[in-house]
Amino acid sequence: MSIEVRPALQAEMFDFGGVVAYVYAGSFGDEPDNVAAQNIKPEWTLCAFVDGQMAATFATLPMTMCVLGNDVAMGGISAVGTLPEFRRRGLIRQIMTRAMETMRDKGQAVTTLWASQAAIYQRYGYAMMSVMRRYEIDTADIRFFDGNDGSGTVTRVDVRDGFTEAESVYNQFIPDRIGYLRRRHGTWAYNVLADNESDGPLHLAICHQNGLAVGYVAYTVRSGKIEHRTRGQQLKIRELVALNGEAYRRLWSFVASHDLVGKVIWEAAPADDPAMELMMEPRLLHCQDNEGLWLRIVDVTQALAERGYVNDGALTIAVSEDQLAPWNTGTWDLVVQAGKATLTKSLTTADITLSIKALATLYAGFRTASDLSRAGLVTGDRTALFLADKLFATPHKPHCPDNF
Ligand SMILES: CC(C)(COP(=O)(O)OP(=O)(O)OC[C@H]1O[C@@H](n2cnc3c(N)ncnc32)[C@H](O)[C@@H]1OP(=O)(O)O)[C@@H](O)C(=O)NCCC(=O)NCCS
Repeated sequence: MSIEVRPALQAEMFDFGGVVAYVYAGSFGDEPDNVAAQNIKPEWTLCAFVDGQMAATFATLPMTMCVLGNDVAMGGISAVGTLPEFRRRGLIRQIMTRAMETMRDKGQAVTTLWASQAAIYQRYGYAMMSVMRRYEIDTADIRFFDGNDGSGTVTRVDVRDGFTEAESVYNQFIPDRIGYLRRRHGTWAYNVLADNESDGPLHLAICHQNGLAVGYVAYTVRSGKIEHRTRGQQLKIRELVALNGEAYRRLWSFVASHDLVGKVIWEAAPADDPAMELMMEPRLLHCQDNEGLWLRIVDVTQALAERGYVNDGALTIAVSEDQLAPWNTGTWDLVVQAGKATLTKSLTTADITLSIKALATLYAGFRTASDLSRAGLVTGDRTALFLADKLFATPHKPHCPDNF
């Protein structure tokens, strides 16, 4: 059996589409000319060919992620699949190993993905970096504890007319956060603005204060979706973004004004979304945190140097053996001054020691070093852990609402 790992050629993209169509059972489309074949460029792919036949697919989408004030090149992994007759022969391990080198060469110091099964990726150093918070609430229960329904005017707009204002709000919202993508038009179209046959057409409402757009909610509404004797409509929030607390309340109040809606669902709220603090009866949000995005550090020196920091300090970090990306193994001096980091190979003893996977959790600010130490995933004394807590602190919880 001969195995070749290389990018697909343009002429092979329908083979790529065919593998993905089968492996994902139609979520990219059933035909070889599906969205994966049409939208993924051959040079982003890495495929395994067994005796000349395409047996496994993999794509690294070039993306830009906000990391606390800095825009960082990120490799978004998608379309990972091996035909069943070729599984468990190490094809994806070979591809993943090669992909680390390729991303490093392209200056993509971090990579993320949505995992169908986490077991596949944790072994490769990917760590959960965010949650998708799900709410399910009756409009009758959307009431704030202090009776303040927010301020501003919410107007429904034609999606094409309102898009520019929504995009501007999003672009003001994301820079000092971590995990959000710099969205291209296609990402907006696919993840936020697309109609959905089952849920209904997409609606967009913008909140203005003093003539300025300060928030928006993108949503669908469909009748007959729930068992309710008088209010059988279901409203799904695709995205709700607000630049201040008053706008946030006002947008929820707008949602609550849909009298015939018996159920509101939002499946992609960030972990620090304020609804739980504000609702009269938070339990009625039926809040549930589900797995979010998975992140891996491709290149420790570049990733930590490109990250933004809210606190200054110095810390020596030992990264235990990274088999997939051996250049990360070693001890590093991280120095942050005026929010800018430098990283150099260290000759001293480490303050903290951790795996490349635990470093991804820390980098994202998803867990603190103290939390990770409680789980046995970081070692270091109390002073070093507190220092790491401070250095990797993020003002907001990491989040990425975009699927890819
Ligand atoms: C997951 C999948 C891509 C793996 O492809 P493969 O070519 O069989 O992978 P490999 O043989 O290289 O195995 C990769 C590693 O993952 C492990 N693994 C593979 N499938 C797994 C699964 N379903 N659950 C847990 N571990 C799994 C293997 O044991 C192996 O571990 P190792 O590298 O430490 O030895 C393939 O099974 C598949 O296409 N599954 C359906 C689609 C899917 O889930 N894609 C991922 C979407 S995010």
